[in-house]
Amino acid sequence: MEDYKSIFSGFRSREEELIPLLQKVQDVNGYISPASMKEIAGFLRIPESRVFSVATFYAQFRFAPIGKKHIMLCRGTACHVKNAPRILEELENQLGIKSGETREDLEYSLETVACIGACSLAPCIVVNDEVKANLTTRSVRKLFGQDKKKRGANGHGPAV
Ligand code: FES
Repeated sequence: MEDYKSIFSGFRSREEELIPLLQKVQDVNGYISPASMKEIAGFLRIPESRVFSVATFYAQFRFAPIGKKHIMLCRGTACHVKNAPRILEELENQLGIKSGETREDLEYSLETVACIGACSLAPCIVVNDEVKANLTTRSVRKLFGQDKKKRGANGHGPAV
C-alpha cells in the first residue's frame, strides 16, 4: 500500500498543486491508480471527477503499471524514415505485447513517443534511461530475443 502521507509531504493541499501531485504519485508508483486519484482528491478537498478529468487530459500520465524495463520507441520523423515502424513490429513480436501495453509478468512495457532528441542515432529506443541507437530488427532480436525464449511460445507466460 502506498504511503500517501510521505508522497504528499511538502504539498499544502492547494488545488493548483494537482498536476505536481499527479506527477509525484506517478514518479513514486509508476502510474496513477484509481485509489491514488481518490487520495489526491481527499488531500486537495476537490471532487474525484476533477482529478480524473485533469489526469486523463494530459498524455504524460499513465493509468496502468509499467514494466521493470519500460521501453519507449521514438516515432519521430528521423526514426520513422529509418524503419521505426518495422522496429516496433519486431519489439512487439519479441516482447509479446503491443505498444501501450505492459506484460503480465511486469518485466516489460512498451510505448511510442515523439522525438527524444537523438535523431542522429535513429532509429532508437530508450530502455528506462538508456538510449539504444541505430537499431535494426536483428539488433532488437539480439537485445530481447533471449527473453522471448524464456517466456515460451505464446509469449505471455512469466519469465523463468
Ligand atoms: S526522430 Fe527519433 S530521436 Fe528524433
